[in-house]
Amino acid sequence: MDSQIRLLWAAAAVLAVWGTPARGISGGHSTAIEKFPYLVAIEIANTGGSCVGTIVTEQWVLTSAHCVSQAKDKLEAISVRSEATTRHAGGKLHSVAAVEKHPKLNNTGPFPTYDAALLRLKDKIDTSGAAAARATLAKAGDDDPDWQHKLLVAGWGAVSEDYDGNEYPEVLMAARLPAVPRHLCELVQTKSRFLPSMLCAGVYGKDWCENDGGAPLVREDTRAVVGIASWHAFGQCSSPGSAGVAGYPAVYTKVGDKEIRKWIADKTWV
Ligand SMILES: *[C@@H]1O[C@H](CO)[C@@H](O)[C@H](O)[C@H]1NC(C)=O
Repeated sequence: MDSQIRLLWAAAAVLAVWGTPARGISGGHSTAIEKFPYLVAIEIANTGGSCVGTIVTEQWVLTSAHCVSQAKDKLEAISVRSEATTRHAGGKLHSVAAVEKHPKLNNTGPFPTYDAALLRLKDKIDTSGAAAARATLAKAGDDDPDWQHKLLVAGWGAVSEDYDGNEYPEVLMAARLPAVPRHLCELVQTKSRFLPSMLCAGVYGKDWCENDGGAPLVREDTRAVVGIASWHAFGQCSSPGSAGVAGYPAVYTKVGDKEIRKWIADKTWV
């Protein structure tokens, strides 16, 4: 009961700072790949599943480990689509030569830890045009984003999740979200499952949703990638249709965590 009251208080505080909810990712607006050129779509054959990745170098894409687990270690089931604004169409498709999951990944429970994977592509993404570019990654030990930092998350996933099924956009969607300070994340997610290698962000109706897993969370001011979309407390995003879980900010793998950032640097030299 006490924790419910604290949660309500936290949700009210977040809403008071951020204002009223908007709709459509959830609470987003349609955008173009040129605004997010470091994004790629990751499509899993036969499952209809997809997720979102970040271009680290022309040959390495960062995403969540839970995203690629859908392919059940079959590399040929994974396609990476670069340079496309449209969902599941356009741009260029790339095959995957190898998947490297973070060595401390634990995805046996509903709340994965060190939920990060790197995909090595067979060919290189052409970053000479406006529709593809290397991302800027947070540095090891960077401070967490705080209230004053606005964040962006983008993807081709559901614009809403509700009991009637999910609704998908035709083009890339982006939402602007508030960062949530660590002590509030620990409060609402419970400290035992919200680890130092995680961040939480978002507010009622502004969130990543089904098939946006792995999406980068970037700071609006520096465009540094600070997080990788990982999990939701009730397995559902905060969209207007998913009443009851609205106050919970989503959880991201923290890119600036020393063990995550060192692993990325060791594999990609970035
Ligand atoms: C992995 O996570 C599960 C479920 O949360 C937990 O029971 C288990 O102890 C964890 N394993 C390790 C090696 O930490």
